[in-house]
Amino acid sequence: MNTSTPSPRTPCIHPSILNADFANLARELSRISTADAVHVDVMDNHFVPNLTLGLPVVESLRKATDLPMDIHLMIEDPDQWAPQYAELGCESVTFHAEAAKAPVRLARELHARGTKAAMALKPATGIDQYLDMLGELDMVLLMTVEPGFGGQTFLDLVLPKIRRARRAVDDLGGEIAIQIDGGVNAETILRAAEAGADTFVAGSAVYSAEDPDAAIADLRGLLAD
Ligand code: DX5
Ligand code: ZN
Repeated sequence: MNTSTPSPRTPCIHPSILNADFANLARELSRISTADAVHVDVMDNHFVPNLTLGLPVVESLRKATDLPMDIHLMIEDPDQWAPQYAELGCESVTFHAEAAKAPVRLARELHARGTKAAMALKPATGIDQYLDMLGELDMVLLMTVEPGFGGQTFLDLVLPKIRRARRAVDDLGGEIAIQIDGGVNAETILRAAEAGADTFVAGSAVYSAEDPDAAIADLRGLLAD
């Protein structure tokens, strides 16, 4: 076990375009130019009861922005589809533990395509059974709402899981990012940060603001205080 405390990662804000204007996505990307990455929610109406966008739209988005693309796949059969998102040159591809048939193999396939590999857990999915494979990942995403829709209320019941993930990541040297997604706003972000999250997806909190870049700065300011 590593006995020294790893230095904390610089917090990152990844706005989700789920609540952006889908008829003007290129313009909407230009409104979050200060983000650390853009979070793209891919939903297939099977893994979650909602349908958003797929490979062709992600390919076009990648050409429309210099921001790193953080792809969150809420789809069945990520073993088949996730590598294809990696091949588009996305910075990271996140698949759901509940949907992946062979998560270790899938993480390695993503790495082989030059993409960061991340695994997401729904709020009721425990992390303990996945601790042994954390070292295969660049990021773990702990959903703080049930996946499928923006604008839901942050689930405080996930905070103990964030703390457990923090301890496990620190034992491995602290390099793995801990992302949270769902209900992140000025009121909830500090609770998640104190529990150990370092990468924050924010959908409605950023895109419901008149100036999304200013909303990003406000969230960063809270984390810096
Ligand atoms: C929900 C998505 C989220 C969503 C977050 O399933 O994965 O990325 O856009 O939206 P807010 O921040 O509004 O909860
Ligand atoms: Zn998401």
